[in-house]
Amino acid sequence: MDSIVIHGGLPLRGKVAVSGAKNAALPILAATLLASGRHLIHNVPAVQDVKTISKLLTTLGARVTELGGGDVEVDTTGVERFQAPYELVKTMRASVLVLGPLLGRLGKARVSLPGGCAIGARPIDQHLKGLQALGARVELKGGDVSVSGRKLKGTHVYLDMPTVTGTANIMMAAVLAEGETVIDNAACEPEVETLAAALNAMGAGIKGAGTDRIEITGVRTLHGSEFTVIPDRIEAGTLLVAGAISGGEVHVTRCVPENLKAVTAKLREAGLPVEEGDREMRVTGSRPLRAVDIKTAPHPGFATDMQAQLMALMSVSEGVSVITETVFENRFMHVAELKRMGADISVVGNTARVKGVARLSGAPVMATDLRASASLVLAGLVAEGETTVSRVYHLDRGYEGLEKKLAALGARIWRLK
Ligand code: UD1
Repeated sequence: MDSIVIHGGLPLRGKVAVSGAKNAALPILAATLLASGRHLIHNVPAVQDVKTISKLLTTLGARVTELGGGDVEVDTTGVERFQAPYELVKTMRASVLVLGPLLGRLGKARVSLPGGCAIGARPIDQHLKGLQALGARVELKGGDVSVSGRKLKGTHVYLDMPTVTGTANIMMAAVLAEGETVIDNAACEPEVETLAAALNAMGAGIKGAGTDRIEITGVRTLHGSEFTVIPDRIEAGTLLVAGAISGGEVHVTRCVPENLKAVTAKLREAGLPVEEGDREMRVTGSRPLRAVDIKTAPHPGFATDMQAQLMALMSVSEGVSVITETVFENRFMHVAELKRMGADISVVGNTARVKGVARLSGAPVMATDLRASASLVLAGLVAEGETTVSRVYHLDRGYEGLEKKLAALGARIWRLK
């Protein structure tokens, strides 16, 4: 198992480009299942989760070809299988994203139930509620969920919470349903908006994505398409925090500042100058860092996927920061590891109280999930001495060569195989 070693204390300086968004690439790749033909997708990040979904598409009968430079071709002409095997679903919960497209294309889909994961129970009841409302039969058997229905009909779905992959699944099933579908309390994340744009490029009729009301007019068929994945806002945010925590100056390019408003606001509240340009941002890691309170929420609120990284930053700020996690239960596993590095953090329920300390010290720590691993790398950048982050397969699920990007900015960081 690989680990990452960091010798902290160097301010990062320079320019770094953001890769394509994992959470946009996954549903877009799944969406290709809906339309028989060839699809060309640009700016696909080379991360493990993309490899997993590509493997899943191949299992279902698609041909996935990496053309290099982030270009991926998917030929879905031969898709005839409808079952996502447990071996793949258990390594990536987002495998559930094939449910909607397979139902739309083949009239049936079977996916192993994802079960609990490190950051909580994460049920899919809202996905199933939406598919049922469209007329699908839902059965749970042998640890699998099966959905079937050849004639889906437009409907009205109100989501109990704005689930991101749930909105994506219902939207994907509805594009080939007969008539109009409305999803209320839909997720407003930019990744949902871009998925809708990708589906429209295949011939779908979706309006309102990016707001909490999405309207879909069903069409009879879809066709192959060409689409470019948006930049990864979580990677961009992580790189901004890297500049900030190291006390350097980092210029993040190929990002969408508009999608990072909550993070930018919190960095500025903490006293960090952040400049925004056209698809670029720059942070200066000035000191002292002020403690700020953070509460995660669905978009446009503060993203839960940036909570762990901001906690690393707050652990070296001046004062006390209260961080409240409202999206997932049990998303504080990084706390125990940050404490091993000298952070002063206590947790009660879904709230962490972070009392800033003057310095962190390097230590062997363990990554527990994707964003937790990023926070440990960030803490390692400012810690005195050597930090070794083990189990970095979590990091590799969603970051494209993070340690290489940080090394290019001047960090002393390398991977041990
Ligand atoms: C997506 C992102 C993930 C991010 C999360 C929240 C992808 C591939 N992953 O995950 O990186 O952290 O959004 O921004 O895009 N819930 C239910 N029932 C459901 C569905 C969700 O109770 O049917 C709950 C979940 O347990 C959680 C909350 O709703 O508490 C939000 O989850 P959701 O938006 O569905 O997260 P994902 O789509 O799995």
